[in-house]
Amino acid sequence: MKVLLLGSGGREHALAWKIAQSPKVEKLYIAPGNAGTSKAGENVNLKATDFPALKAFALEKEIDMIVVGPEDPLVQGIFDSFKEDPATCHIDIIGPTAKGATLEGSKEFAKGFMMRHNIPTARYKSITADNLQEGLDFLASLEAPYVLKADGLCAGKGVLILPTLEEAQKELKEMLDGMFGDASATVVIEEFLSGIECSVFVMTDGRHYKVLPVAKDYKRIGEGDKGLNTGGMGSVTPVPFADETFMEKVRTRIIEPTVNGLQEEEIGYQGFIFLGLINVKGEPMVIEYNVRMGDPETESVMLRIKSDLVDLLEGVAQGDLDQRTLEFDPRTAACVMLVSGGYPEAYEKGKVMTGFEKAAETDSILFHAGTATKDGQTVTAGGRVIAVCSYGETKEEALQKSYRVADMINFEKKYFRRDIGFDL
Ligand code: AMP
Ligand code: GLY
Repeated sequence: MKVLLLGSGGREHALAWKIAQSPKVEKLYIAPGNAGTSKAGENVNLKATDFPALKAFALEKEIDMIVVGPEDPLVQGIFDSFKEDPATCHIDIIGPTAKGATLEGSKEFAKGFMMRHNIPTARYKSITADNLQEGLDFLASLEAPYVLKADGLCAGKGVLILPTLEEAQKELKEMLDGMFGDASATVVIEEFLSGIECSVFVMTDGRHYKVLPVAKDYKRIGEGDKGLNTGGMGSVTPVPFADETFMEKVRTRIIEPTVNGLQEEEIGYQGFIFLGLINVKGEPMVIEYNVRMGDPETESVMLRIKSDLVDLLEGVAQGDLDQRTLEFDPRTAACVMLVSGGYPEAYEKGKVMTGFEKAAETDSILFHAGTATKDGQTVTAGGRVIAVCSYGETKEEALQKSYRVADMINFEKKYFRRDIGFDL
């Protein structure tokens, strides 16, 4: 079959690497891709949200399946756009309907969904300019710290955690006043939950589901999880605290009510559900839903899927996911992200990257995130540049291998965290 993968980051390179290994795949295209994905398939210079151009391309190349990496095309309705068009309705789209994508596109919708289906999550109130006083009062009834979430998509920047009531009340007003544009016209105020987080990835065909290896990501720029939020500095799978007892609770209290809830509400969903969970004294609670795979979790999770991912994706699209096998590699996988100095604030691009030959002699796997090819050389093209991923019998061994290769790849002002997995 012919597969088109949408997106351009480390997540997409990891997906491309795994998809390309499938004996079912005769041709893989990535739109727009990066310097790394061009080794797993053929990059196509199209935007992941340009539906008319994607349709024309898919028809010309007789694409059978489109795998959607990032959330934007999903929230903008790529599934519905292809399925409602007689010319493209035969193409399998891996991802939810626009309505399903609202689980990520609107925090208010996601909270309402969790309430309707009794899914454990933080207490909350949804506030607009019309009920501001209710919001100020709700904040006053909570204990510090305070969690404010812009309702809409903000490229991962829409959550504020504030230490004092005064700051929280001030920021609430500013968010409603347009701090994140329309995305914060509605703000969800949440009770703060204390615990350790993990990412649970579920594949569903709308009725059946399968749970992928559980991972943990590291979001802050600094060691010890300090400093500014980033797109992700590393990840590890498995997560020791997500043991059989914990996962049984996740399945019965969260995954099954979610899949059944989607069905009851007639929300079409054939794709990935990413549960951002927090372990509160052994009890899993939902911090957020995303409707795609996580980055940089995918980079380590793909290493631990032994089965043919494309066979599973076919099950997702055809509604017989229960008939497909998902086997895990029992080893640990760890991913360390190399970033451009200055990121997540201002940083430079276009730095020549070296050390690939030496890295190729190791058994670590490199997934490109922000790279490009210029005059035959690989150069940096983003804040997060490349993910170094390795297997190990233990977390320590996997990380040690990744750090060794992280030292081999060089570019001016390279930075990475050396404490990935420190809290596990
Ligand atoms: P994101 O939604 O990925 O931008 O990140 C939000 C982050 O804020 C999560 O990964 C948590 O670390 C934190 N967070 C969100 N909601 C809560 C909550 N109710 N209690 C504690 N931490 C939270
Ligand atoms: N790693 C978190 C995310 O992809 O949103």
